[in-house]
Amino acid sequence: MKKLHIKTYGCQMNVYDSARMADVLAPLGYAPVDAPEGADLVILNTCHIREKAAEKVFSELGRLRPLKDANGTMLAVAGCVAQAEGEAILARAPYVDVVLGPQAYHRLPELVARAARGGGAALDTDFPVESKFDHLPVPGAGQGVSAFLTIQEGCDKFCTFCVVPYTRGAEFSRPPADIERDARALVAGGAAEITLLGQNVNAYHGRDAGGAELGLGALVRRLAKIDGLARIRYTTSHPRDMDDDMIAAHADTPALMPFVHLPVQSGANRVLEAMNRGHTAARYLDIVARLRAARPDLALSSDFIVGFPGETDAEFEATLDLIRAVGFAQAFSFKYSPRPGTPASLLDRQVPEAVKDARLQRLQALLKAQQDDFNARAVGAVVPVLYERAGRNPGQMVGKTPWLQAVHAALPETAAGKVLPTRILAAGANSLAGAIPDSNPERLSA
Ligand code: 5AD
Ligand code: SF4
Repeated sequence: MKKLHIKTYGCQMNVYDSARMADVLAPLGYAPVDAPEGADLVILNTCHIREKAAEKVFSELGRLRPLKDANGTMLAVAGCVAQAEGEAILARAPYVDVVLGPQAYHRLPELVARAARGGGAALDTDFPVESKFDHLPVPGAGQGVSAFLTIQEGCDKFCTFCVVPYTRGAEFSRPPADIERDARALVAGGAAEITLLGQNVNAYHGRDAGGAELGLGALVRRLAKIDGLARIRYTTSHPRDMDDDMIAAHADTPALMPFVHLPVQSGANRVLEAMNRGHTAARYLDIVARLRAARPDLALSSDFIVGFPGETDAEFEATLDLIRAVGFAQAFSFKYSPRPGTPASLLDRQVPEAVKDARLQRLQALLKAQQDDFNARAVGAVVPVLYERAGRNPGQMVGKTPWLQAVHAALPETAAGKVLPTRILAAGANSLAGAIPDSNPERLSA
């Protein structure tokens, strides 16, 4: 038995990809371990989205190098930094054995074997003609109660700040039959919730065997028929692709959870245009209103960038106005980071770091207040919680509300995979405290 350690950076797509890499290596006798010490192979599954994320890879490689020198641990760099920097990684860290981009994971066994034979590093950052999905094994058991499933990859939107169209390549949708097969395998392996993943997941446009095209709404309705699949989620969406059918799916498909991650980036029309987002602030607010009309309890999350080149104080205020107008349950926010090869990195009027810092602080304070308020409003209610795994304290289980809030409650491990009505007792900084109401039989078995 050989030991494999995978360290994952960045988005949920990378989390999914790391699990798939472990799957392709399993037949070669690699078993996952939690720490790099003592591992035969360490894979860093990297993120290139902002400079800070990309730089982490090189400091981590520096830390791993002594393991390689002492034990011969093989080092691989996968993911978007590998795709973007390729050979440059080997120039900076020549002791790396394998460099492979996100479209080449199915070739991992071959690359590892090649590097093991000696004769230098193995590199594969092609966008192969064949799809990696046709060569990766069907996901097995052990992906947990809440599993990820990639249905779409890549992006053709070319937002001017973003590296994704370059690292993940052109937009590609998997066939619905393959997705349904994987979803059934995940449910058979214990999943009760599946999050459909894609860089532009609501741009999904798969073709079924008859050649008919099917959007995300239709796919969700099809997956909702799978017995044992209690919950469906999807991320990340683009406002431009939020079509009427997907909005309608929120009204007519109970398994589709009332939570949408819908990045807006900015609330100022000039900035949205300079970002090449393809919509205005008013259009975003209109989509939010239609989603809420379809599903009144729908909660929203978003991504924001402060300090995009040329962003004025007034434009930043417009972003705060949009946040106030929507009311987000949670959000991610970032200082603009100029990325090599992207159009925005070449723009004049880059915003000084201190201004970005100040704006980020104000934006995050507002978002945090909205999140705290959203969580506080849950206190006292009885909500369906899908329990996923044991909590930190003995006798405790952790689960999620439909609105993606973490809940912990005193329950036996047999609660894993069950949706139980739970009374929310208190809202903490990162999770809610819950208890099963007396009338629920689950309590008696606790
Ligand atoms: N600088 C800062 N944030 C960025 N994002 C993408 N590219 C950049 C960048 N160059 C953010 C966006 C996107 C999220 C995944 O990362 O908000 O939605
Ligand atoms: Fe990047 Fe824009 Fe594509 Fe999202 S839609 S992955 S931000 S280019």
